[in-house]
Amino acid sequence: MEPQIETGYPPKAPWRVGDIEIVPCSEHIGAEVRGVDLNALTDEQFAVLHDAWLKHLVLLFRDQRLSESGQLAFSRRFGDLDLAPKDQNGRPELPDFPEMAVISNVVENGRAIGALGSSEAVWHIDMSYNPIPPKGSALYALEVPPSGGDTGFLSCYAAYDGLPEALKRRAEGVTIKHDATLNSTGQQRTHLEPAHDVRTSAGAVHPAVHIHPETGRRALYLGRRTNGYVTGLSVADSEALLDELWAATTRDDIAWHHQWRVGDLVLWDNRCAMHRRDAFDPGARRVMHRTQIKGTKPCN
Ligand code: OGA
Ligand code: MN
Repeated sequence: MEPQIETGYPPKAPWRVGDIEIVPCSEHIGAEVRGVDLNALTDEQFAVLHDAWLKHLVLLFRDQRLSESGQLAFSRRFGDLDLAPKDQNGRPELPDFPEMAVISNVVENGRAIGALGSSEAVWHIDMSYNPIPPKGSALYALEVPPSGGDTGFLSCYAAYDGLPEALKRRAEGVTIKHDATLNSTGQQRTHLEPAHDVRTSAGAVHPAVHIHPETGRRALYLGRRTNGYVTGLSVADSEALLDELWAATTRDDIAWHHQWRVGDLVLWDNRCAMHRRDAFDPGARRVMHRTQIKGTKPCN
């Protein structure tokens, strides 16, 4: 029998608070928020956005015009920010804005101006290889290729809700080590030893099912597939359980794929949404700015 998914949440129809309209993008995840200028957000509007974010997991704001400091100020409404990862030479990508990461394939004067290149990025939770991953990420599009580079999101609540009962119980009893040695495009992080043995390689351990600290809902917390490890199991048993959990999770019916336009800002809840990115033409330019809001340790 197909697993049944609880369908009462998030809201399925567009809803409105004052001038703000919230239009769901898919059944389980994502909503476009209309009628707000992120440069001039009132406290009342912020409260609506925060509520919509918890309900819809990912929010899309179109036609924004954000400077670096505008995006930083908007992101700070949600909490303190993490510092951006350093570039390959150990330097911040934007020295004037150390909390701003550049996600780009553009190479200028022999130096990549940002991270992740133009290849596919596989399903992942941001920085779940750290003990305290960010609670959310805001990605803002400055330049986009004519096609490709779409970003997909999936609901980890719906993934959990849809697991067959026996698999749910097994997932609730285990922790997973999230691999730190590769990035989401499969590149080796040069300062770490390659993961010759997933039982001992670098990463952080989190419960496979955690409770979202603000919504109280249970979410499957898988991170990335490659080099994941269910702690305490033999590698063969860990691989088998991870394969089962991933097969039950990466389903189109609980995902939404966003096609970018310049001026889009997408804010995802990194505690209950996974994301991936399609490859795009390496000869085209894609330039995005990313901020990340500090999180708390995933717990159950
Ligand atoms: C990220 C990420 C996907 C994209 O910035 O964390 O996964 O579409 N980006 O660039
Ligand atoms: Mn990411």
